[in-house]
Amino acid sequence: MRKIVAMAIAFTLLGVNNASAHQPVNLGKSDTTAAKGPLLVDGTVSFAVRASFTKAREVRAFRAQLKAGDSLEVQYLIIDKAPENKLKVNQLPTLVITSPSGARQVMKLDERTEFLETFSQTLYFYLGRINQRAESGIYNFTMTSKARSAITLGVGYREVPGDVIRGALPTPAATPATTPSVSASPTPTPSPSVSSTPEAGITRAQVEMRNSKNACWSIIDEKVYDLTRWIDSHPGGPSYIQFICGKDGTNSFKAQHSGRANPTARLADFLLGPLAR
Ligand code: HEM
Repeated sequence: MRKIVAMAIAFTLLGVNNASAHQPVNLGKSDTTAAKGPLLVDGTVSFAVRASFTKAREVRAFRAQLKAGDSLEVQYLIIDKAPENKLKVNQLPTLVITSPSGARQVMKLDERTEFLETFSQTLYFYLGRINQRAESGIYNFTMTSKARSAITLGVGYREVPGDVIRGALPTPAATPATTPSVSASPTPTPSPSVSSTPEAGITRAQVEMRNSKNACWSIIDEKVYDLTRWIDSHPGGPSYIQFICGKDGTNSFKAQHSGRANPTARLADFLLGPLAR
């Protein structure tokens, strides 16, 4: 079933400099391997990574760093325009994600959900989404085209400024302060340190976007939870959790579980952060 998800805020994939925007990252022709491509220093920060291809068998790649316990969240999107909106799923670029331990997964393109980005009035389609518990380390993302096309990958979910660097991640050992003449690693642009900007909170619009079994966020008592992995584990059955995906689930949760220690304790495992005021 096709569904229009109209967003009320400037969740923009077009790169407007806005605190609640997916930060744009454009992959270039030289980004042909993950090591050559950019590194998203914190893969939980929301980025819109764009890749365009002029013909078949072109490769674009990048990396994202995560910590154990973080969520690996990836969305595969196309704009509702030719040629990509006319292509069959098997004519669109493949996306292979390789985890730090070497586990390889091919992104499944198993949906076609319309998404109206109201700020630019651009209609997108979600074609696939991943939401998994991350391993610690660097994930590689490699896209290979089958035809002329352009795609956007939404990576991460935290609406705070994030750093993007090229080359190796500088470590204190690689760039000792006492030996300024040694410059083994490329200069990061900007600083590679993980942003210390205070959390602005997660907006309702961000929650409303995660309204399916592939991506399920819910608000309970002004806090936002990622319940995606709980849907199939919930002892009361998946439908109760799916019902509150993308919504405020406070009343439903309390009506069933108020004052019960176990559900409240389990809920804490899925906390993402406070709801933005
Ligand atoms: C949102 C996060 C939720 C968590 C973390 C959660 C957790 C749990 C847990 C741990 C149980 C096992 C029983 C227990 O240990 O007390 C349970 C059972 C159940 N849950 Fe949930 N639940 C959630 C949401 C909901 C919602 C929204 C509903 C319904 C509106 C619901 C309906 C049920 C039912 C019917 C059972 C089986 C009967 C019972 O034990 O109460 N749950 N849930």
